[in-house]
Amino acid sequence: MEHKHICVLPPEAVAEQMAAADRVRALWQESGQPSPCVLVMTFGCQQNEADSEKLLGMALRMGYIKTDKPEEADLILVNTCAVREHAEQRALSIIGQYKHLKAARPSLIIGVFGCMVSQPHRAEQLKKSYPYVDFALGTASLHRMPSMVLSRLRQGKRQFCPTEEVYPIAEGLPIERSSGYRAWVSVMYGCNNFCSYCIVPHVRGRERSRRREDVAAEVSELVRRGYRDITLLGQNVNSYGKDLGLGYDFADLLAELDGIEGDYTLHFMTSHPKDADRKLIDVMAASSHVAHHFHLPLQAGSDEVLRRMNRHYTVEKYMDILSYIRQKMPDCVISSDIMVGFPTETEADFAQTLDTLRRARFDMTYSFIYSPRRGTPAADMPQLDEATKGERMRRLLDVQNAISLQINQRHVGEILRVLCDGASKNDPHTTGGRTDGNKLVFFDTNEDLTGRFLSVRIDRADTFALYGTVVK
Ligand code: SAH
Ligand code: SF4
Ligand code: F3S
Repeated sequence: MEHKHICVLPPEAVAEQMAAADRVRALWQESGQPSPCVLVMTFGCQQNEADSEKLLGMALRMGYIKTDKPEEADLILVNTCAVREHAEQRALSIIGQYKHLKAARPSLIIGVFGCMVSQPHRAEQLKKSYPYVDFALGTASLHRMPSMVLSRLRQGKRQFCPTEEVYPIAEGLPIERSSGYRAWVSVMYGCNNFCSYCIVPHVRGRERSRRREDVAAEVSELVRRGYRDITLLGQNVNSYGKDLGLGYDFADLLAELDGIEGDYTLHFMTSHPKDADRKLIDVMAASSHVAHHFHLPLQAGSDEVLRRMNRHYTVEKYMDILSYIRQKMPDCVISSDIMVGFPTETEADFAQTLDTLRRARFDMTYSFIYSPRRGTPAADMPQLDEATKGERMRRLLDVQNAISLQINQRHVGEILRVLCDGASKNDPHTTGGRTDGNKLVFFDTNEDLTGRFLSVRIDRADTFALYGTVVK
C-alpha cells in the first residue's frame, strides 16, 4: 500500500501561517512601539514542552521577544494538560489570574492551547467564563496561532476551536529550543491505545508518525549544531511507523539515527509494553548512541486491573520484557509509571502491585493517584474513596523509595558519564546533571561546564539523587 502522508499539513498551509506571522511583525513595526513581549506557560508532559517550543518559535517570528514576567507580556500563550484533574485546575487558576492583567492592559492577547482545550466542554468553559481569553486552539491546530493573533490585532472575533476533523502534522514550523544542548524531537503524535482511564487519545487524536527523512534531518541538524542529548518523543513512541505501512518500525528508526556520527546520546519515551519487542531491545544493546535507559510504564501489578485498564499485557509478559532488557543490557536504568486507586482496585490487587514493584526493582517510578477523566470508561466504574487512594499512595512510595535508595547506593564508587546542566535550582553553590540513565547527579565545580559530558565518581547516594566528584 502506498502511503500518501495524508497526515502532513500541506506546505501552503504552513506558509500561510508564516505569512500571518510576518504580517503581525509588520503591524508592530508600523505602530512604532517598542518590541512586544511574549510569555509561554507550559503544563503537562515533554510532548507539550516540545509544542511550546514551536509556539515560542512562531511568536519570535511574529516580532515578539521572550519574557518570564506576565505583567510585561503583550501576548500570553498557555499550553495546557488534561491528564489529571489537578493539571486542569492549575491551568484554569493561572488563566484566572490573568484577568487583572487584561484589565490593566486591554491590548494584551491571551491564547490557550493543548490537551485541555481539545475537550469541547473546556473550550466552551473558556469561552463563557473567561471573557478575557482571546482564542483557544486544541492540539490539532497549534500551528494556527499566528493567524489567530493577527485576527485579534485587527479586532476580529474571539475564536474557540477544540478539535478538527484531522490532526495534521505541521512540518517546518520555527522551533525556539529552551536548551542549547538538550532537545526534544517528536517522532509521532497521538495514541490508539485507549487505556480506559486515559484522556490522551481523546485529545491528541490517532497515531501519526512523521516521515523518517524528516526525523533524520532534524536529528542530524541538532547533532551538527552540537546538541548532546536528544529525546525522541511520542505518547507511544515504540509504535512509530505502524500507521505508515512501510514495514519500517521504531527499532529501524533508532538504528538509522544511531548511525549519525557525533558525540551525543539518544533517549526515547514513552514506550508501551505491548510494543516493546526484542528487536527494539537488540537495537538498543548494539547501538553506540542510544542510552541504556528504558521508561516502561507498568501501571499496575494485578492482571485483573491491567485488563480493566485495557493495557493488553499481563504482569508475566511485562516481567519477560524486563528480564530480556536486563539480559541484553545489565546496566540499563529502568523507570516506570504506576497508578494507584484505579476504580475497583481491591486491597489484594494493590498488594500485587507492591509485590510486582519488589520483583521488578525499578530504578525509579512516577506514581499517580487515579483521577477520573470525563468521557473515559473508567470514569463510569465504581470509584474508590480518597482516603484509600491516599493511603495506598503512601505505601507505594515507601516500597519504591526503599528500592530506589538501594539501587542508587550501588552506584557509589562507580564512574558515570554525566551531562552537566549547570547550577542547581535549589542550591546555586552546587552543580547538577544527569547520567545516561537520566539519574540526577550533584557535584561541585568552579567552572561552568553546562552542556558538557563529564566523568563523575559517585561518592554518596540517596533516594532521589547521586552525589559525586568530577574526575574528568
Ligand atoms: N503515553 C504514556 C504516558 C501517558 S500519561 C504511556 O502510555 O505511558 C503519563 C502517565 O500518567 C501514565 O503513564 C499514567 O500512569 C498517568 N495517567 C494517565 N491517565 C491518568 C489518570 N486519569 N489519572 C491518573 N494518572 C493518569
Ligand atoms: Fe494514555 Fe494508554 Fe495512550 Fe499512554 S498508551 S497515552 S496511558 S491511552
Ligand atoms: Fe497532558 Fe496532553 Fe501530555 S494530557 S500529559 S499534555 S499529552
